[in-house]
Amino acid sequence: MKISIWRPTRIVIGAIILSFGALTLALAAEPIGPKLTPRLKELLTSEMKQVSKATANLAIAIASGDHSTVVDLGARVHDSFILKQSLTSKDKKDLMAAVPPEFVGLDRRFHSLAAKLSDAGKTGDSALQGFYFGQMLEACVQCHSQYASDRFKGFAVKK
Ligand code: HEC
Repeated sequence: MKISIWRPTRIVIGAIILSFGALTLALAAEPIGPKLTPRLKELLTSEMKQVSKATANLAIAIASGDHSTVVDLGARVHDSFILKQSLTSKDKKDLMAAVPPEFVGLDRRFHSLAAKLSDAGKTGDSALQGFYFGQMLEACVQCHSQYASDRFKGFAVKK
């Protein structure tokens, strides 16, 4: 039964998210949204909307053993990389001025996980797809709790 991979996967995802939650509270970085130029904010928001939709559909594709959709959607998330989009040199300068290097690193890691998920689709390895999907979710939580706690109040640090 394919479903059986989900129980352990869920536990692992839960544990990972919890540990990052604790780490994040200690770091408590500042929201980056207010620091972005209107153009960059718009680009990021549109990337996030695409990523969200793809992530929801990825969960369904993985659960259904629909490997070719996993390949497609994983690649699509990978390609949405904000730093790989056709940013003008002014946009790039604005972005680097607004975000710390850690944010860029997290974004890079996130998109490389999507590429690995896409690769796991090619080999039809459902357990590995579940693993990378969990890591991707962990990256959403880590980045949002560190850099978007103004947008996602659930991550706001309680003092
Ligand atoms: C490297 C950082 C980073 C990663 C990784 C990341 N996000 Fe985001 N996301 C942000 C930031 C920053 C915002 C807030 C932008 C703003 O201020 O409006 C955001 C906003 C969003 C929004 C709100 C968009 C809107 O309509 O305003 C959604 C939905 C979202 N992210 C989904 C996701 C999902 C799902 C994942 C993982 C699969 C993810 N994000 C991964 C940084 C990230």
